[in-house]
Amino acid sequence: MDVAFSSILQWIILFITTCVILLLGFFYHKYSYWKTRGVPYEKPFLFFGNLSFAMRKSVWDFCLEVKRKHPRDYVGIFLAWQPTLLVQTPELARRILVKDHEYFQDRFLYSRKSDPLGSLNLFTLKNPKWSEMRHEISPMFTANRLKNYTKLMNMNAVELVRKIQRDYVDAKKTVDLKELFSMYTSDTVAYTAFGIRVSVLNDQPSPLWYITSHMVKWTFWRGFEFTMIFLIPAVAAILKFCFFSPKATEYIKKIFWDVVNDRNKVGKSSDKDLVNHLLKLKENLKLPADSGSELADNLMLAQAAVFILGAIATSATTLSYALHELAYNSEAQEKLFNEVSKAMVQSGKDVLEYEELVELKYLSACINETLRKYPPVAYLDRQCSKKYKLNDELIIEKGVPVFVNVLAIHYDENIYPEPEKWRPERINVSSDNDNLNFTFLPFGEGPRFCIGKRYGLMQVRAALAQIILKYQLKPAVPYNIKTDPYSVMLSPDKCSVKFVER
Ligand code: HEM
Repeated sequence: MDVAFSSILQWIILFITTCVILLLGFFYHKYSYWKTRGVPYEKPFLFFGNLSFAMRKSVWDFCLEVKRKHPRDYVGIFLAWQPTLLVQTPELARRILVKDHEYFQDRFLYSRKSDPLGSLNLFTLKNPKWSEMRHEISPMFTANRLKNYTKLMNMNAVELVRKIQRDYVDAKKTVDLKELFSMYTSDTVAYTAFGIRVSVLNDQPSPLWYITSHMVKWTFWRGFEFTMIFLIPAVAAILKFCFFSPKATEYIKKIFWDVVNDRNKVGKSSDKDLVNHLLKLKENLKLPADSGSELADNLMLAQAAVFILGAIATSATTLSYALHELAYNSEAQEKLFNEVSKAMVQSGKDVLEYEELVELKYLSACINETLRKYPPVAYLDRQCSKKYKLNDELIIEKGVPVFVNVLAIHYDENIYPEPEKWRPERINVSSDNDNLNFTFLPFGEGPRFCIGKRYGLMQVRAALAQIILKYQLKPAVPYNIKTDPYSVMLSPDKCSVKFVER
């Protein structure tokens, strides 16, 4: 072998060996993090930390497993190399989410400037911009607006029942509940966000369904992107992943500006939907003088985008599991039918209005128990912004992600005996705002709780009330449904029921 070549080879080997040693040293140092602090932790694997399950198992299943393996107040995990604290009791949830919120104001998930729709939406925005935006968006969800939205939800719920009759009962076809309910929530959001009255439920072309059907179907690649965005933001940054796919981004922009231009042409504005609200908001925003109009436009579009993302999949998942459980619980089903039909007779109408739906205690109980057993969001994401003393043994350092494991609380035997069972009677909330002393957290809590909570609940109530009036539900799939491993939020894999006309 030529001497020069052998010397180059030696240098290359030396270089690679040094890199490997440095890398192993880095991981060894990272993986000692919880041990040196005396915190019980889930044993990590090289590179992946505790995320070696990703894309084979859902994040939802992982959170439940950690709770079962470590039934304690808090436990350390590693998101690849990032030490993360998972807190698992109502008291710690109260401190992190509400009492000491000033230490945990932002989420850990990735948001990058070059992805404006991904970084400027309410879910990903960081303080102080978040608090200004939250203040501006909140009026979209006042009781008065919800009453208006409920009217439209009811119209779509009637359309939903027509589709069930036409496409599944008469045609004797099997229903994919997640897809069916995504169509329903998509039609509703088309109107509430963009003022577009379309009906994919009635087989009409819907510009919104074009986006949302992509959002609710999790491909391997989209699942991978989302897993990185939520759990390993550093990798998402290197690979330049975007919160919304380029197709969805383009389409959201197109719909938004089409709606605005149409309104300008006819000189009419609707004070009811998000588009109009955002246009007003744009005028009020206090932005740096040199930011130009692009930032303001992106801020508007990002809120419209997250409205779509937040409103569709979460409610569709809740409705799917609610029907599945009702199909297996005929007693609960009859109780619910009696409550809804009695209210319907009293109202003398075909649909129930906002106040009437809220009054239905058993309907709420069925929905809440579904959200207890199947919270669509398994953990609440926060990041520590300054040193925080958790107790005499542990100080949480700045930058450490702190996740509230909602499943650990919802499946705690001491709070909910036999947590695997679905028992609507056991959750007795005094109002939609009652978190039962932090034992019921499907919508999160504190200043960053779900802004669309009441909207989501009404959407589910309106559909469930219409369906239960017209059909008996019978099981169509085995009781234990697998979760979709590609989805960061809970998503059932093949959820179906049989509809039998009453
Ligand atoms: C069953 C339905 C829903 C469930 C279970 C749900 C659940 C959640 C959860 C757990 C969070 C995080 C809260 C936290 O970190 O404390 C959240 C945040 C959020 N949700 Fe929902 N959601 C639902 C419906 C909706 C709807 C209908 C919308 C929009 C219309 C929406 C928009 C949002 C937004 C924008 C945030 C971020 C809030 C912020 O950081 O200020 N969600 N949701």
